[in-house]
Amino acid sequence: MTTKLINPSAMSYVDLLSYIEEVNRCPGGKRTINNIVSKSLLSDDAQVLEIGSNTGFTSIEIAKLKNCKVIGIDVNPQAVEKSMYLLSKEPKSIQDRVSFRVGDAANLNFDDNQFDLVVTGGANTFIPENDREKALSEYRRVLKPYGMLSVTNLFYHDTVPKEVLTNLRNVLGFEVKPWTKYYWLDLLLKSGLELYSYDETEMQARSSEVLNQFTSKLIDDSPALANFDDEVKSNFKDRWFEIMNVFNENHRYLSFMTVLLRNQYVTEQQELFLEKDTIDPWNLKGQFLWEVDK
Ligand SMILES: C[S@@+](CC[C@H](N)C(=O)[O-])C[C@H]1O[C@@H](n2cnc3c(N)ncnc32)[C@H](O)[C@@H]1O
Repeated sequence: MTTKLINPSAMSYVDLLSYIEEVNRCPGGKRTINNIVSKSLLSDDAQVLEIGSNTGFTSIEIAKLKNCKVIGIDVNPQAVEKSMYLLSKEPKSIQDRVSFRVGDAANLNFDDNQFDLVVTGGANTFIPENDREKALSEYRRVLKPYGMLSVTNLFYHDTVPKEVLTNLRNVLGFEVKPWTKYYWLDLLLKSGLELYSYDETEMQARSSEVLNQFTSKLIDDSPALANFDDEVKSNFKDRWFEIMNVFNENHRYLSFMTVLLRNQYVTEQQELFLEKDTIDPWNLKGQFLWEVDK
């Protein structure tokens, strides 16, 4: 038994999840990934870049669905290290086509016109507000003509209590504003990419019982904690439950969008008559932020 003092409250959320090996998925998990791969009509030899790959779930899943090459980048070295380790457990046919490296969305270390698909799931909120336009221009730069950008992004479909946002800031270490879908759509369209398809889905909260069960099993099964004593494991359970509770409350007000944008080569003329409920990118109107409830 190891009794070395290790304090989960002193670790950042991304460091902690990489350490305990939580499988961090994009909103909608495999259902979303299947949707993206099907809709983006990827060819077998396609080159895919994932931004904010975290522990690698999305990149590895894409390589399971298509015979393409996938590079995942993340700004967090611990997450990249864990994704490499998890990749090493996959069959050679996957390992040969997937790689991970440390990289920053706002300064991509890749040539122009290199990728058929750039995927980003859940990472945009983590990128500082002032870097987001730069990041989007970088995604466009590395896309081939008519290549696709896929963005899976949480947004608030309703006003959210101030306490929920304060708790979220304390867990994530940065402020999350109550952005609506119009904030994200405006940001995405400013990149000059064409809105190709848009779907939105409402999230839901889970019961305390499910949160508890999930946390206990995750910590009991965590390879990194296998040699620690019960007191350390119990500290990890308390901290992870606390974090999951904050996310759970937040999910009552969240939906997510799955957006595909295409790297147009020739500018397209406005389309006038659109079917009902279609997002009209030429006449986009809506408030960017919800007022915060006390
Ligand atoms: C919620 S996780 C994304 C989950 C992942 N996309 C998936 O589908 O499994 C957000 C990730 O974005 C990363 N991130 C934050 N800022 C970044 C940046 N500027 N460039 C690249 N990655 C970044 C964080 O380190 C974190 O791992």
